[in-house]
Amino acid sequence: MNQWVKICELDDILPLGSRVIELPIGPVAIFRTSDDKVFAVLDECPHKQGPLSQGIVHDNSVTCPLHNWVIQLENGKAEAPDVGCVETFPVQLIDGDIHLSITVSLASSELIDG
Ligand code: FES
Repeated sequence: MNQWVKICELDDILPLGSRVIELPIGPVAIFRTSDDKVFAVLDECPHKQGPLSQGIVHDNSVTCPLHNWVIQLENGKAEAPDVGCVETFPVQLIDGDIHLSITVSLASSELIDG
């Protein structure tokens, strides 16, 4: 069963920035775009597990800092000619707070800076 869990406030993440939360399944990167959309993806590039949270956000995508693959944050897919996909997680803004949909057993996550 999934539930929505408050992660942080939108203002805790700079525009074009990110924050990482540690979950039992691995690090999850929360991204904020220049127009205040938020996305959550596993913080591991589908190429060689580079830290996407340290990449450059542009439009609704992030460029991996290691080998410059471009990952679409809405669906986790690498842009052509690269092929691969990173896991994405439902996220929403509620009254300025960022909420992530995670399974109940993972709800006691620990926040770390991203
Ligand atoms: S690890 Fe991300 S492009 Fe290679």
